[in-house]
Amino acid sequence: MEYFPVMETGSSSPSTISSSVSETADAASTPGTQRSLLFDDDVAADPLDIGGAGSSFIMVVGGLGYIGSHTVLELLKANYNVLVIDDLSNSYESVVQRIETLAIEHFAPLQRPMPALHFRQLDYRSPLMRSILAEYCSYTVSNKASPSTPIVSATPRFPFSTLHRTDSGIDMQQEDASETTLRRESRISGVIHFAAYKSVEESIRMPLRYYSNNVCGLVDFLSLLEEFGIKNFVFSSSATVYGEGANCGVPLREELCVHHPETYQDDDGIERQVSPGVLGLTSPYGRSKFMCESILADIARSDPSWSITALRYFNPVGCHESGLLGEDPRQKPSNLIPVIATVLAGTKPVLDIFGTDWSTPDGTAVRDFIHVVDLARGHIAALAASAAGRIKAPFRAYNLGTGRGHTVREVLQSLEKTSRRTIPAREVGRRAGDVGFCVAEVRRAETELEWKAVKTLKDCSVDVWNFTKDRCLQQASDEMEMQC
Ligand SMILES: NC(=O)c1ccc[n+]([C@@H]2O[C@H](COP(=O)([O-])OP(=O)(O)OC[C@H]3O[C@@H](n4cnc5c(N)ncnc54)[C@H](O)[C@@H]3O)[C@@H](O)[C@H]2O)c1
Repeated sequence: MEYFPVMETGSSSPSTISSSVSETADAASTPGTQRSLLFDDDVAADPLDIGGAGSSFIMVVGGLGYIGSHTVLELLKANYNVLVIDDLSNSYESVVQRIETLAIEHFAPLQRPMPALHFRQLDYRSPLMRSILAEYCSYTVSNKASPSTPIVSATPRFPFSTLHRTDSGIDMQQEDASETTLRRESRISGVIHFAAYKSVEESIRMPLRYYSNNVCGLVDFLSLLEEFGIKNFVFSSSATVYGEGANCGVPLREELCVHHPETYQDDDGIERQVSPGVLGLTSPYGRSKFMCESILADIARSDPSWSITALRYFNPVGCHESGLLGEDPRQKPSNLIPVIATVLAGTKPVLDIFGTDWSTPDGTAVRDFIHVVDLARGHIAALAASAAGRIKAPFRAYNLGTGRGHTVREVLQSLEKTSRRTIPAREVGRRAGDVGFCVAEVRRAETELEWKAVKTLKDCSVDVWNFTKDRCLQQASDEMEMQC
């Protein structure tokens, strides 16, 4: 049984459409059935055609997770219609309403309707993805005999069996040699791909789970996108791709991890050659991100009509200032701030600080903590740069960080100050594969994406506390009740 909740965001009252569709090859090959159940009711009918048959969408895969949800909100605020695909393996459906609430609040004073927000609960590896992509297509009919004849928008009236795939899309070749061509064009103008499993520790225990979702899923997905002519792709990568290069003790340049030979000028103006590959990837998770980047770089090299940006996130922290969106995973959290939040909320008794003997000011590891809203805006900047032709190559990687480092202890102190609470912590040994210093060199993103992180560690702490404090109060009242 598959459920397809659909958010209609042209109106203030969200509606949910549930339908029972079995995930079989048959279901996948009957786009007409899918269409009538989902598509027709799904299109906002308004004079501006918001989300209607003529509108384009950004598809955000894994869009209800921590970074995805903040990015979806920023996309809406930047006037993009958004189609979210998420299987809720690490998020909750209620996030859709939260995003919608914040978007409505943003647009109300502007007296403009918010763009469309559609949601499909689905594993992006499902064969049903083909049906969804087919829904988000428009069709044009042209007459081959007279090239000057204007192309006419049309609802397809031809059996799908007469369509033939070509490099540039789908053509219809009629047996009676009629000169009519039906061309299919996707209304998905770009894809942001967040869907992946992300726990380093779990990936070591369950590598196949990680390679299946993160790598195999991506390969099949890219083939599908290619089939629909969707070639504008933003990929969630990670500073983990630098492997032991992160131990160099200076901010990391993108050239420290490349997938084809490159030449660049170092800070002293000396020309350097770099070879593909990276040393010291210590987990299946890290390897999966490196593999995905390599696959994307190879595709872009074989077909330069792709525009692929790999955004290498450093340490995303913080949450939306409203406290409505934040990091709220189904799985056990493993990142520093959500772990601190669970200690603050009383769910976990003490924070483990891994390694206090690094050569850093207080002995704890230094990381480049970037506010998730800044990070989200980096994705909008990548789409804009791609549209404006500012991305220098069909595949290009960018660090998204602040360029500044903070120690783990500084983060702890900042959250203690904001929450006015003591956060119990204990020092434990280093974890295998950890590095002492991992900070981004951010010039490439600043110049080519015209993007810069602006929020501070204090902003992160204030917003995280805003998101966490209700849970702390709830915990305290539960404890009081138990004592009574
Ligand atoms: N959070 C970080 O510290 C960090 C750092 C570097 C890179 N990244 C990468 O950024 C991306 C997003 O990270 P996040 O922190 O938001 O993670 P998250 O787990 O909060 O979000 C991922 C979302 O993808 C969904 N998802 C997973 N597999 C799916 C599938 N097969 N089909 C459909 N949906 C699926 C999950 O339900 C979840 O909502 C991931 O690719 C992650 O590897 C995260």
